[in-house]
Amino acid sequence: MNGQKYPGWLDNCVFYEIYPQSFKDSNADGIGDFQGIISKLDYIAALGCNAIWLNPCFESPFGDAGYDVSNYYRTAPRYGSNEDLKRLFDEVHKRGMHILLDLVPGHTSVEHEWFRRSKQAELNEYTDRYVWTDSVWKEPAGYASLRGISDRDGSCMVNFFSNQPALNYGYYRPDPNEPWQQSIQDAGPQGTIRAMMEIMRFWLQMGCDGFRVDMAGSLVKRDEDGKGTMQVWKQIRKFLDDEFPDAAMVSEWGEPAQSLQGGFHMDFLLHFGSSHYNDLFRCENPFFAGRGDVSEFVKKYTESRKKSAGKGLICIPSGNHDMERLSRAIKGDKLKIAFAFLLTMPGVPFIYYGDEIGMRYLEGLTSVEGGYGRTGSRSPMQWDHSTNAGFGNSPKDMLYIRQDESPDRPTAADQISDKNSLWNEIKRLIALRKEHTALQSWGEIEIICAEKNMYPLAYTRYDDSEKLLVVLNPSDKKAELRTAYEIKETIYSFGGGVPAGHGMLVLEPNSFGIYQI
Ligand code: NOJ
Repeated sequence: MNGQKYPGWLDNCVFYEIYPQSFKDSNADGIGDFQGIISKLDYIAALGCNAIWLNPCFESPFGDAGYDVSNYYRTAPRYGSNEDLKRLFDEVHKRGMHILLDLVPGHTSVEHEWFRRSKQAELNEYTDRYVWTDSVWKEPAGYASLRGISDRDGSCMVNFFSNQPALNYGYYRPDPNEPWQQSIQDAGPQGTIRAMMEIMRFWLQMGCDGFRVDMAGSLVKRDEDGKGTMQVWKQIRKFLDDEFPDAAMVSEWGEPAQSLQGGFHMDFLLHFGSSHYNDLFRCENPFFAGRGDVSEFVKKYTESRKKSAGKGLICIPSGNHDMERLSRAIKGDKLKIAFAFLLTMPGVPFIYYGDEIGMRYLEGLTSVEGGYGRTGSRSPMQWDHSTNAGFGNSPKDMLYIRQDESPDRPTAADQISDKNSLWNEIKRLIALRKEHTALQSWGEIEIICAEKNMYPLAYTRYDDSEKLLVVLNPSDKKAELRTAYEIKETIYSFGGGVPAGHGMLVLEPNSFGIYQI
């Protein structure tokens, strides 16, 4: 990639996101753990996923489900020890898979030792680790702050929730009238960057394969175009290229034109930002629910690809721990068509745990550990029909989050044994992706049909070896596609999407097809 080093294992990669609290509980305390994850690695491999993103698993008071880290160097005891995590790395690698940890560089917990020291009135190593104003009566303009909580005279900027003070990476253009605003090159911000690289080095040396980076675009303050934050990440990328060229970095940024330019290998399209990702799965009329519009998404996607061409990968997730479950708005066969899209697009697909069995968003749950409306997407995995749906053997009232209690809740076991299930559809689609390099991360794409408020969506995927046509019709009506391409062979079809004569495809309602052209 433009002379930079690049982790080649991303070329043919499908990720599975694990929310450790809710995946598999091996010691009956009602909360998932590393040993539980180890016991389910074969399940993930059987689906075809070959990489894992693990949400934060570090010491934390869990005011934000672990995104409020109090010690970056130690795992939270509820998941197991550092040695247990190392064992998880080893077990992952034994299966030819890779694993990313979740790095939270923008803020810590208020309970982090750095913050305790930073609050002190006496100058010390951590005085400039966070963004502080020089008087408690002054707040950082445009940001919330913590005030009256320290001997030090100042207000501390907040990055997300009020228990998450902002680490100091400086201001892009510090205001000369506000001397407390530092520049990226000042000692404080450079100390924070070094501290983050130290943490990354620690886990990479232990065997993790890279990081998903939380709020990656938020580091430098008053940095509207992300230029300062890109500068910080380029500095970090240089360190990785030198010491860990196989480590992969994926950003929670949602602006590939910035993040990939800034040195990330991958960036997510997200439920916030300008990508129109929500138009597909999560809005009043999502495209994949059969009554929406895909054209704005396609326009923005094409633009982002142009701007970031060759620099990195745009990743479209099925969901994540911050969004409503995919199955909340997309049902039945339409879910399979949504996955056909996710698994035939360029970039690296990410499947959120449970989405592969159509786990439901649980309505009306009380917030758990800062989840609020997100809690309904974080409930314990449903494995089978044993105690707590096979999640673990704790008493039911000890479960970290209440489970789906409906009698027809989906389980992995049922889905695996039904060859027409969503799980098996996804397994087949991943296998197909693995057989065709044109469908993989770096295969090209040309969108050939994405009309406003119309179906189908059609695109070609190609590389030097072949050219494929993907046609998706998640609507309840027949759809037609005229194309100049000669269809040589159907390589996958679902719901009766069949070639009907030269240059014309008639797509049945709720169908999709993949053709050699
Ligand atoms: C994004 C994470 O995905 C979310 O869960 C968290 O609450 C915020 N960042 C703050 O770290």
